[in-house]
Amino acid sequence: MTRICIVGTGHVGLVYAVAFTLQGHTVVGTDVDAAAIASLRKGKPTFYEPGLSAALAKARRTKRLSFSTEIAAEASAAEVVFLAVGTPSREDGSIDTSYVESAARTVGEGMRAAKGYPVVAVKSTVIPGTTETVVRPALEAASGKAAGEGFGLCMNPEFLREGSAVEDALHPDRVVIGCLDKRSGDALARVYAKLRAKKLRTDLRTAEMVKYATNAFLATKVSFANELADLCDAFGGLDVDRVVEGMGLDARINPRFLKAGLGFGGSCFPKDVRALLAAGRASGYESALLRATLDVNDVQPRRAVALAEAAAGDLRGRRVAILGLSFKGGSDDIRESRAILLARALLEKGAVVVGYDPEASSAFHAVVPDVEIAPDAASALAQADVCIVHNDWPAWRRLKAKDFAGMRRKVVIDGRRILDRKAMQGVELRVLGG
Ligand SMILES: NC(=O)c1ccc[n+]([C@@H]2O[C@H](COP(=O)([O-])OP(=O)(O)OC[C@H]3O[C@@H](n4cnc5c(N)ncnc54)[C@H](O)[C@@H]3O)[C@@H](O)[C@H]2O)c1
Repeated sequence: MTRICIVGTGHVGLVYAVAFTLQGHTVVGTDVDAAAIASLRKGKPTFYEPGLSAALAKARRTKRLSFSTEIAAEASAAEVVFLAVGTPSREDGSIDTSYVESAARTVGEGMRAAKGYPVVAVKSTVIPGTTETVVRPALEAASGKAAGEGFGLCMNPEFLREGSAVEDALHPDRVVIGCLDKRSGDALARVYAKLRAKKLRTDLRTAEMVKYATNAFLATKVSFANELADLCDAFGGLDVDRVVEGMGLDARINPRFLKAGLGFGGSCFPKDVRALLAAGRASGYESALLRATLDVNDVQPRRAVALAEAAAGDLRGRRVAILGLSFKGGSDDIRESRAILLARALLEKGAVVVGYDPEASSAFHAVVPDVEIAPDAASALAQADVCIVHNDWPAWRRLKAKDFAGMRRKVVIDGRRILDRKAMQGVELRVLGG
């Protein structure tokens, strides 16, 4: 079993700290955020993720999981160090690698005193070449050792989905091991040895690109479904859900992520597509397809507002309820949530916006303070003129006409095409995408 140090205990790092512990390794999760580490030491996760609380409790009971802010010291004692810090978007769409670089420097300082051949694995999503040109020099400068001699280097892209992150980390469908040399790759392969997932070994840059290619493809699939919905709408008499159902039966296509609606948000898809586009541009390649993927996506919240206007008239002074504020059901993450764009567009129209989410209300309120937050769905809907169902919490699927009874005018926009249309008698239901 491997002695692991994870740097960054956010959505990826914490879930992996837990998953690796449950798989038998000895793990320390480290972060610069002292408040987060204090919370984790008490067994309290710093964000909502289904099953995470229980999994963290179980992992702590093994006594093989700890948390610390002493990153360099913990890294010096580890056999494999994972970098799982953020790589947020810059203004021009490119990624900010300063967190990865700074984490690599700290780990490098720790590795000065390390014995053997510790391996550093980059789990953060980074543009091809970053591990070689940013992480490696930072590690070498701080440790005084050469990669491939004093320490090993890997790139291990992460594919977990928020909302099912614990399951995904425990049972990934594939593990991509990008490695500088065989010795590094073997050390990382030992970490995943017990998993039945398919394992693919590549060089560092290919591993980096696999992650972007995956997210760009999935994002494009979503935008493709939205484009189809518009075409179906233009032709008239077509239900895009039936069309994509028929398409999805084709084994070459499969139905997942082929769903029309408000588009993709979250901490990964928009950021990763923008980053790939920006990196392509910096290398002299302008991707028309990725540009279109983003353009189609950006239009969707405005379409929902237009539907609301078409059904309810001028929105000035109207009360509009948004059900679901996180970027997807099963998560409290509001990063790049379409609800932010939606709420801002509605506020610009002069609407009074009230929102409710089972987990994300307060985080959302901090970002869009002009949105009133309701304590539950019924309160959000009370006296509302329009309701927009924004994300896909399972509770929304169970909504029936009587749940909208408290509305002043029962205009309901189904932004995710998840409401049971047969259960909506008496409701003015409009479904995004026709
Ligand atoms: N969230 C996802 O679903 C997901 C999925 C796959 C890949 N990724 C990628 O994984 C990376 C991490 O994403 P996340 O969602 O976990 O981010 P996050 O913002 O939830 O967590 C990042 C953590 O890193 C810590 N940190 C920042 N700088 C640090 C430093 N120098 N030393 C130690 N800790 C530091 C922060 O305090 C924070 O706790 C990103 O590159 C992201 O693109 C995310």
